[in-house]
Amino acid sequence: MPILKWKNIHRTILLVFLGAALLNAQTYSKNGMVVSSDKSSSQVGANILKKGGNAIDAAVATAFSLAVTHPSAGNIGGGGFIVFMNSEGKTTTIDFREKAPLAATNDMYLDSTGTLIDGINHKSALSIGVPGTVAGLYLAHQKYGKLDWATVVQPAVDQAQNGFVFNWSLYRAAQYFTKNEGTNAFMDEYFRNEEGEVTEPGELWTQPELATTLALIRDNGRDGFYKGKTAKKIADFMKKNEGIITKKDLAKYEAIEREPIKGTYKGYEIYSMPPPSSGGVALVEMMNLMELADFKTIEFNSAEHLHLVAEAMRRAFADRAEHLGDPDFNLNMPLAKLTSKTFAKERFKGIDMGKASVSDSTQFGRLYDGESTTHLSTMDKEGNAVSLTYTLEYSYGSQMGSDELGFIFNNEMGDFNPQPGITKSNGQIGTAPNLVAPEKRMLSSMTPTIIGKDGKPFLVIGSPGGRTIINTVFQTVLNVLEFEMPVDKAIEALKIHHQWLPDQIVYEKLLLSPDTRKALEAKGHILKERFNMGALMGITYDPEKQVFIGASDSGQPDSGAVGY
Ligand code: GLY
Repeated sequence: MPILKWKNIHRTILLVFLGAALLNAQTYSKNGMVVSSDKSSSQVGANILKKGGNAIDAAVATAFSLAVTHPSAGNIGGGGFIVFMNSEGKTTTIDFREKAPLAATNDMYLDSTGTLIDGINHKSALSIGVPGTVAGLYLAHQKYGKLDWATVVQPAVDQAQNGFVFNWSLYRAAQYFTKNEGTNAFMDEYFRNEEGEVTEPGELWTQPELATTLALIRDNGRDGFYKGKTAKKIADFMKKNEGIITKKDLAKYEAIEREPIKGTYKGYEIYSMPPPSSGGVALVEMMNLMELADFKTIEFNSAEHLHLVAEAMRRAFADRAEHLGDPDFNLNMPLAKLTSKTFAKERFKGIDMGKASVSDSTQFGRLYDGESTTHLSTMDKEGNAVSLTYTLEYSYGSQMGSDELGFIFNNEMGDFNPQPGITKSNGQIGTAPNLVAPEKRMLSSMTPTIIGKDGKPFLVIGSPGGRTIINTVFQTVLNVLEFEMPVDKAIEALKIHHQWLPDQIVYEKLLLSPDTRKALEAKGHILKERFNMGALMGITYDPEKQVFIGASDSGQPDSGAVGY
């Protein structure tokens, strides 16, 4: 390629990047708002609102669109969760987490000596869980949508068929996957045009096979994915690649409506995702602990503030590891206790403001969940709100897909504990609630959340980021409710993460001054710097001014809020 052309491309990329960063300030609107990881998908959602659709219609349309424009995490081959609050203050959730196939066993990732086969639970076709996204979006739409199904799916079909502008995130991924030609034939082909050239920024990227798959969903609803041609092609793909998902697994998959996890914080109501996500329980547990702190004497970003937050995280993650899993397999999880104010009082007594606690590495370890997920938030003029997080687990999931179907399968089975009974301080966990079993849902950290005020949606928020999701959502909620930050500032504020084990505070680069680092180390904390965590997508509603305020994380250069 001539040097000049490269220069121009680099300049274009830089301008796109800077432009996107500048666009990530707050967006205001009167009639509704959509915020997602891709601005063209947010626009799809906003168009649906304009057509008279409600927040559910907009969320479903945006989610299908992200499967086209943001395929590292947007998907029809994965799963996720919706938290919904309607204009009357009624709340519910939709669980469309992937399930283990019928042929799965709790020792499926071990060799004949009982040793874990390195990486198999995240890399092979055995890492693929039965996808839940199409069933979840369909259920949400059937129960709570307003427009007809074809109208909300069609924009994604159009984007896949006619193409959309290849963006910065896709360009970076394309460079990565095509660098080692032949290593992964599917991913190598994925970003190439009909002439076999890698798509470049600014070009239109079309996905005709995905358009056909989406058109079957548009025409046949959930059966367009779980039955018929698509189901057969999925089952054939699995057989050919030594996977175990069958047509029966697909036909049996159901999304489930569940009661949200509920909590309160100083007059605000918290609604978040129950198990199989651990997000809601941990969020409420940590907010209850924060309610007991005296924030008149604890300043934002002081060593005291960060110590307190880290100690709350440590405790919530320890409880997560011990107790949480799929509720259909773990009938006696102590959810009421973990989210109670009484339990928080007990837990709070154990926090020493002068000294870090010690995580007990003899019993539990790091949990397995990937970092590539995506969140979208929608609100409509009637006062309905949707918080939707869904995932493929790793970036581009299993990095496996069928040429004929045009979409990528998850590697969500890696979120199960892979080796029964074996828990190691290096991070492997083997506790019972989250072991593999046929038709079981793997434990998640996704934390789609709606904060209510006087029975109306006030803040809609969520994030990708594996285990860090719980903590980035927690700190963003605290930033808005306790520190009274506007939503964009709350999202952009640098954050920390503690997940019990490894026993360390991970902090976003530039958050801690040398003085704060010293003060935290003096309390006994081990500190580890990291460039970035999460990508929060949030909306607040100001009832006095009657305005929606949307903001997306500048860490995701193609993201954006679109109102109307
Ligand atoms: N795969 C990320 C999560 O479910 O938390």
